[in-house]
Amino acid sequence: MTETDFILKDFSLENITNGSITWKTPSNIALVKYWGKQEPQIPENASISFTLDTCFTLTTLEYRKLNAERSHNFEIYFEGGKKEDFKPKIVTFFKRIEQYVPFLTEFEFVIKSENSFPHSSGIASSASGMGALALCVMSLEKAINPTMTNEYFNKKVSFLARLGSGSACRSIEGPLIVWGNHPEIEGSSDLFGVKFPYKIHDNFKNYQDTILLVDEGEKQVSSTVGHQLMYNHPFAKQRFQQANSNISKISKVLQSGDLPAFIAIVESEALSLHAMMMTSNPYFILMKPNTLKIINEIWDFRVQTNSNICFTLDAGANVHVLFPEKEKETVNNFIKSNLIQFCQENHYICDSIGNGAISIFNSAE
Ligand code: DP6
Repeated sequence: MTETDFILKDFSLENITNGSITWKTPSNIALVKYWGKQEPQIPENASISFTLDTCFTLTTLEYRKLNAERSHNFEIYFEGGKKEDFKPKIVTFFKRIEQYVPFLTEFEFVIKSENSFPHSSGIASSASGMGALALCVMSLEKAINPTMTNEYFNKKVSFLARLGSGSACRSIEGPLIVWGNHPEIEGSSDLFGVKFPYKIHDNFKNYQDTILLVDEGEKQVSSTVGHQLMYNHPFAKQRFQQANSNISKISKVLQSGDLPAFIAIVESEALSLHAMMMTSNPYFILMKPNTLKIINEIWDFRVQTNSNICFTLDAGANVHVLFPEKEKETVNNFIKSNLIQFCQENHYICDSIGNGAISIFNSAE
């Protein structure tokens, strides 16, 4: 599919007046990372992520048809309060998607959003937040054009979400989503995320992700700036090749269930992402001393117990501890006894792989 397939043409708003749509949309954690992009939000390499379950954004879009066209007419409330500083990102998003959803300017909106995780936790909320907003917009399109198929609905949601935040296009469905054109992943595209198209080995069913909140502050360097620093980065070309080759490897591993190979790819990806940050110009470090202490504890525990525990990192100091469901009890005991001490105020979140966004309410249905 190409960009033009996502443009809504010849629509009528005759039967639409006002209403309300609510979606619950999960966050995701990348196993092979997206770091580096071209305009308009085209990734430099393919990435793959586990969709999460407990970490989600709940967004309601209230819409009312206007008598005359007006641009980007909306209010935004976050966790009960008006959030003026969220507006510019949403205006940019609406401007980027307007050509694909031209009815947008004929409505006024109230957006109400809340996260299941603390906003200041350092967990990226742009993936679940932009994913949820894209879903609400597409439910409105579905009310206008009810004959649309579910397949088209999901593809276009992911396509729109990508224009809000790259990683958001991997938050619509689950349990494993690939974004970025890759010769070995059938159906993959730079324009939207697709479900991993091959059989996933039982070892990865209900995989666990315990998120250790090492640093709950605002990030010193945003992902947007980080992506920009991949232009003219001395190792950019090698990094994009490495990521694409890791997609080939992890695709086989996810089918065969080879846990040691999975661990080697996932941990190397996390450290390669942070190595890019440390070698960009200007350079920066998002890991904290406790991030490294946790990593070393995980490595020691793995050697001592033969566990399949491993870690990955986002663009921040928090550590995602990944492990198979059957090790839940032993790993959770280890986390409580050895790792919680390195978390800010002992905060952590127990999550696991999820199946994607859920429609909570739709007055048009
Ligand atoms: C490190 O999706 O937040 O989490 O497209 O600029 O919104 P924008 O960036 P964003 O970048 C996420 C980067 C990452 C890795 C990943 O999720 O693949």
